[in-house]
Amino acid sequence: MRHLMSPLDLSVEELDKLLTLATDIEKNPQKYAHACEGKKLATCFYEPSTRTRLSFEAAMLNLGGRVLGFASADSSSASKGESVSDTIRVISCYADICAMRHPKEGAPLVASQKSGIPVINAGDGGHQHPTQTLTDLLTIRSLKGRLDNLTIGLCGDLKFGRTVHSLIHALIRYPGIKFVLISPEELRVPSYIREDVLKKNNIPFQEVERLEDAIGDLDILYMTRVQKERFFNEEDYIRMKDFYILNKAKMDLAKDDMIVMHPLPRVNEISVEVDDDPRAAYFKQVQYGVYVRMALILTLLEVEVC
Ligand code: CP
Repeated sequence: MRHLMSPLDLSVEELDKLLTLATDIEKNPQKYAHACEGKKLATCFYEPSTRTRLSFEAAMLNLGGRVLGFASADSSSASKGESVSDTIRVISCYADICAMRHPKEGAPLVASQKSGIPVINAGDGGHQHPTQTLTDLLTIRSLKGRLDNLTIGLCGDLKFGRTVHSLIHALIRYPGIKFVLISPEELRVPSYIREDVLKKNNIPFQEVERLEDAIGDLDILYMTRVQKERFFNEEDYIRMKDFYILNKAKMDLAKDDMIVMHPLPRVNEISVEVDDDPRAAYFKQVQYGVYVRMALILTLLEVEVC
């Protein structure tokens, strides 16, 4: 039985196979419409979500399976003090696979150690968000045609943004990847990412504060929201929240074939006037999230579709 805690749980070959399966699902959805008949997905979300929870549910429904679960800790027995270990033992009696989001880093990993079914980390605190990374990789591969030889700008809250941490881990395995880390001083990537991931693997990167100074060199601009829920005080959040606003004037400085990605939800960091720019890829990214989660469910349940 396999779980997914980090994008690194999949080798590059397995990842390639999974993305190819997701692309086939996109092209031939009917072929997969009954693949998970009789199977159930549990979504155990201890933290708010729109995309991740609903795209998991849409993915299982598209595969002919069924879904159950809870959307907040308050509506589960976690509010009475039940541990994730006990909860997953219970969920294992009800479902075939579980997607779990939790505010505590490592909680889905703890759950996986007591689980009788595959557990997927659907975001744990500021740590990892592997299925967002799968979504991002499928988006990049589909829209840019490759996962190598790209200059990627990661902009915004690089300290608390778990999608950024997972994406860096995944992309360093491809040749010719360069990162431009665009953030205010207080929201720089954690030092373990800079030292143990980027420097240790000789990955070229630079850290800059002004988006205008970097945007012209990028193949991909990955915008992120300032993670309000991870700040210790409101004052710091208010000071940081509008540090970056991508607008038409800044898009004029970018290459014609640059794409703009964002894991969403967006707050103010991308002006709505950018939405109609053909380079805005963030709503396409949402759709790719369903295909890749379908592919992941099939892979972890070891369902083959001929
Ligand atoms: N991208 C993402 O994780 O969105 P949700 O928080 O809405 O699931």
